[in-house]
Formats: sequence, structure tokens, C-alpha cells
Amino acid sequence: MTRRRQAFLEFVDRKTREAERAAIPQLRTDVDVSSNWVSHAIGNNWSRQHYDGDFHLLDSSPAVPAVSLVFVQSRDGNTVTPNPEQLGGGAADTHLIYEGLTRVAADAVLAGAVTAAGRHAFFSVWHPEMVSLRRERGLPRHPLQIVVSNNGRVNLDALLFNVPEVQVILIAGPGCRNQCGTAIAERPWITMLPLVENGLRDVFARLRNEHGVSRISAIGGPRTASSLVDAGLVQDLHLTTAARSGDLARRGMLARRGPSWRRSCRSAIHPIRACCSNISSSRRELRIKAVRIRPHDDPLPPRLPPAVGNADGTITLGIRGRVGPALV
Ligand SMILES: NC(=O)c1ccc[n+]([C@@H]2O[C@H](COP(=O)([O-])OP(=O)(O)OC[C@H]3O[C@@H](n4cnc5c(N)ncnc54)[C@H](OP(=O)(O)O)[C@@H]3O)[C@@H](O)[C@H]2O)c1
Repeated sequence: MTRRRQAFLEFVDRKTREAERAAIPQLRTDVDVSSNWVSHAIGNNWSRQHYDGDFHLLDSSPAVPAVSLVFVQSRDGNTVTPNPEQLGGGAADTHLIYEGLTRVAADAVLAGAVTAAGRHAFFSVWHPEMVSLRRERGLPRHPLQIVVSNNGRVNLDALLFNVPEVQVILIAGPGCRNQCGTAIAERPWITMLPLVENGLRDVFARLRNEHGVSRISAIGGPRTASSLVDAGLVQDLHLTTAARSGDLARRGMLARRGPSWRRSCRSAIHPIRACCSNISSSRRELRIKAVRIRPHDDPLPPRLPPAVGNADGTITLGIRGRVGPALV
């Protein structure tokens, strides 16, 4: 067995044990307006017990994949850390939301070059209940791994680029193609899709039509998330706000491109569902919100739930650390 194969098997084993042993708190639903949207409910007994009901998937379009963003932030809105688990989302965020329900039905998990650069970066589900829910849906054990890079700041030693049985798509700008072309040619399980300036939407259409990707869980980081939102590709956001304050500098999810986010999301943020823990005490430790991001060309559903966000109809994420007062 090769060293890389061995490393992958050890990683799978460690992640599975961590998920099995985690004490995952049950969430309680604060707000549920999911019936206002066209959605598919998914879950099994285990997930319904922990999430307090079904998880909702919004429909994908025939033209591009359905893209769902998933983010965790500290109470004061920090999202940038080498290890997002340090932001205090805890076991419910890690195992039930981030490595669970938000990717259990996803064909692919997408990350920016920086987020995918860690030696152990590889994005899948690990809890046995999530693994079996994925299998029941007829999906492969691991989602396709998608990485975005313009200039080639890609770590090809990261685990996800080195598991031949798991397909990878590298969405690559000109610098990345120059930088990584030779190495990628030696790995037939990696496909490079060329990216031209402002061409994200075209690449996503290729993902849908040529590679059969209909649902993507996008995990950031901030720059990648912002560019997906700016391109009108994101339809919903799962945001976990932890009880803990971030010790690190308050560089929020959209801090660098805040104004752009504000423009693209004005009056277009609507709640789907909000959960909180801890059900055993009145002190709410964690808030998990599912929010619909409605592109401007998306017609209003007949019974539109109230917009959430700032008073001017914008959303501020990772800066003030809340999606909006209307949810809770
Ligand atoms: N709180 C959370 O939930 C969460 C989630 C994920 C990550 N994070 C944290 O966020 C930090 C990293 O965030 P980040 O914003 O610096 O990095 P990132 O979004 O992971 O990666 C940024 C890089 O991705 C490529 N990229 C992104 N959008 C692109 C586009 N539209 N076209 C072409 N290339 C594109 C570029 O790569 P090139 O430079 O190669 O061109 C860019 O430099 C880490 O600390 C990570 O742990 C937090």
C-alpha cells in the first residue's frame, strides 16, 4: 500500500471515530418557515432527533447546480481561523451541520484554494448515520471535491488531491493552469476546468451539464463565498453563530468585500429555519440559521416570508455576527 493510501485510510478512520464518539446536543427549532419555499425534506430518525425535524434542500435549476453556503462564526462575528472548529460551534455544528446535513445530499463540496490547502483537507461526511443517509440517496461515499484558484496558490499535497478513487475538479484561472498543469496531467482523477475573468457562472453551467453536478455544498472561505454570492450562484446559507467570542482579529466572512455583498443581497435575504441549542437550559449556546438568498431575477414565491437582515435590507455576515433580528 502506498504512503498516501495509508494516510487516507488513517484519516477516514480518525474522522469516523471522532464523529461516532462526539456528544452532539439536540437542537430546538425557534423558527420554521420552510413551507414557504419549494424544498425537499431529508433526514432519518437520528438526524430528525438531533436537528429537531427534517433538513430542507432547495430546488436546483437545470442550468447550474444548487449552491448552499455553510459557515460558522464566533459570537462577535469572526470567521477566519486556520481551524473553524475553534470558533466554538461545537459538536452539533461540526458533525450534524458542517460534515453532516449540509453535505449529505451534495454531489460536491467546494472550497477556495486557501481553505483546501491544509495537509488533511478532504471534505466528506463521517458520522455513520450520515454515511448511511448518503448511501440511501444513491450517492457515492465521498462527494466530488471542487477547488477554485485563479493564480495557482494550490497545495497539491493536500489529501483531497491524492485519493485516486475520489474525483476532483480544479476550477483554474490562467495562473493556476500554468502553475499546476503538469502535475495535474499526472493525476487522471483531477479535471481542470478553465476559468476566465467573471466566468464563474459559465464554469458552473459546465459542472451541471457536463459533469452531472446538481448540488454543491460550498464551505468558503470568505473570498470564495463572496465571489459565489456576487455571481448570483448561492441560493441558501447555513450560518452557525457560536456562543464564544473569537480571539482572533475580527476579519469577517465578507469583510474584504462587504460593500459588494451588501449590493448583491439587498432585500433578498429570507429565513428558512432557525434552530438553537441548548434545549436543557434557557441559555442558548448555539444558533443555526438556514437563510434563502434570493437572486434579483428570482420571482417572489406567493407567500414570501419576511426579509431578514439590517434595517436597510442588507445582510452583514462575519462583521456584526448576525443574519438578522427577524429570525430569533
Ligand atoms: N468560518 C468558517 O466557516 C470558515 C469556512 C472556510 C474557511 N474559513 C477560514 O477562512 C480562511 C481562508 O479564507 P480566504 O478567504 O482567505 O480563502 P479562500 O476563500 O479559502 O481561498 C481564496 C483563494 O481561492 C481562490 N478563489 C476564490 N474565489 C475565486 C474566484 N472567484 N476565482 C478564482 N479564484 C478564486 C483564489 O486562489 P488563488 O490565490 O490561487 O488565485 C483565492 O486566493 C481560513 O482561515 C479558513 O480556515 C472559515
